[in-house]
Amino acid sequence: PRAPLILGLESSCDDTAAAVLRGPGDAPAILSSVVSSQTDLHAAFGGVVPEIAARAHTEKLDLMVEQALAEAGAALTDIDAIAVTSGPGLIGGVLAGVMAAKGLAMGAGKPLIGVNHLAGHALTPRLTDGAAFPYLMLLVSGGHCQFLRVDGPETFRRLGGTIDDAPGEAFDKVARILGLPQPGGPSVQAEARAGDATRFALPRPLMDRPGCDLSFSGLKTAVIRTRDQLTEAQGGLTPQDRADLCAAFQAAAADVLAGKSARALAACQGLTAFAVAGGVAANQSLRARLTTVAEAASVPFLAPPLSLCTDNAAMIAYAGLLAFEAGRRDDMTLSARPRWPL
Ligand code: KG4
Ligand code: ZN
Repeated sequence: PRAPLILGLESSCDDTAAAVLRGPGDAPAILSSVVSSQTDLHAAFGGVVPEIAARAHTEKLDLMVEQALAEAGAALTDIDAIAVTSGPGLIGGVLAGVMAAKGLAMGAGKPLIGVNHLAGHALTPRLTDGAAFPYLMLLVSGGHCQFLRVDGPETFRRLGGTIDDAPGEAFDKVARILGLPQPGGPSVQAEARAGDATRFALPRPLMDRPGCDLSFSGLKTAVIRTRDQLTEAQGGLTPQDRADLCAAFQAAAADVLAGKSARALAACQGLTAFAVAGGVAANQSLRARLTTVAEAASVPFLAPPLSLCTDNAAMIAYAGLLAFEAGRRDDMTLSARPRWPL
């Protein structure tokens, strides 16, 4: 039989995305993957504004679908199923995607498949590197932080995660605290290059406790406290202070993520790989640390290309493809779920 062609849609946060993927599941080909970022729309507000996000998704979804189909050289009639993120995420955006997908599925008479956004991230190492089950996934983004053991296309086990902020959120907040531009991750990483990570002693939250849970809000508070102390003592922060503080924060974040990764790896048997996904996986010092942790556990370290680490629709199409091959279908009763743990 002809390899299935899947159209994927993603709109759960601040990226509107569409992609066309050709199966089969064990040898997928990304024919197109387009993303329209809303970063500029939200920049002035210091965070994603749900109402603005939802409206922008509604405006951009059709265009993204058109572009993805055009780049793939495919027509809607060629598509075998439409996969859409149906949660978790900002409800307005998820709804916009689900409605668009229902419209396309109904209009073209195609099957509809609702996909968990987290499953999309978790299955990405299989899409990009053909990772075999089971593998361990560390998902680190602006909204998520969790360890998942991926046992099969729809079988995940959560080993732990953040009990407060996501790491990307913490990077963004630290940037704001220090007057650096958003998104905070790249700015903090750039500042940290000229910094001395040992000058300020920041905490390593939850490292003294067993298990794979993490916490980042205390780290952020420690950065605020240090900034306030410096301001009190000298009337402000010098560029060197800022660089040192960024370096200290980045080292602390990488330290706890690496430490808990080692624990998560030790808690699993028979893993074929340790993989990361999410925007924070772009962080170079974190990547270096995680590479070492994987080496020590004798498993390959997999970091998908950045465009597939951050939010995209190729991963949604891929999760949809695996569900399609397993015979799973949704119908017009598919609902948008703001919360949906794996
Ligand atoms: O996965 P993503 O694009 O969006 C979601 O959160 O869904 O991740 C964005 C997050 C932002 O918080 C951003 O500051 C962070 O990833 N980020 C980084 C780096 N590049 C992006 N954090 C640390 N270091 C980086 N180089
Ligand atoms: Zn995401």
